[in-house]
Amino acid sequence: MRIEIINGPNLNLLGLREPDIYGRRSFEDYLDELRKRYPDVEIGYFQSNHEGDLIERIHDVGFEADGIVLNAAAYTHTSVALHDAIKAVTAPTVEVHISNVHQREPFRHHSLISAACRGVICGFGLDSYRLALEALLA
Ligand code: DQA
Repeated sequence: MRIEIINGPNLNLLGLREPDIYGRRSFEDYLDELRKRYPDVEIGYFQSNHEGDLIERIHDVGFEADGIVLNAAAYTHTSVALHDAIKAVTAPTVEVHISNVHQREPFRHHSLISAACRGVICGFGLDSYRLALEALLA
């Protein structure tokens, strides 16, 4: 199985950024643990702060990977182009969020990408990524 994790803008600052919301752990540290926990799964990882780079990564992996775990971060709430990219490829995408976006500001309550995704997991901290991986493996 090959699963690609794609993280959007500001998620390179995990561990430093608003730790009360996103925690104190870097994503690289969490990813090490995830890869050890799933030794039989090839887990690719890509992060960008640029919308076009995220779209190109979806194009690049989306016809070969068995699934995509996507935290589009703020682009979740704004990007028709990401919605279209998710629909354009064959791999199923699970939308994830670290925080429970529905408990936060109203502008985070709407996702432009959910309808293009296989499912959505949010609010379980970094464990949201593992739960999304489990859903794709199942
Ligand atoms: C986020 C939630 C988004 O609203 C926000 O813009 C992020 C992170 C999350 O993982 O909780 O950058 O996707």
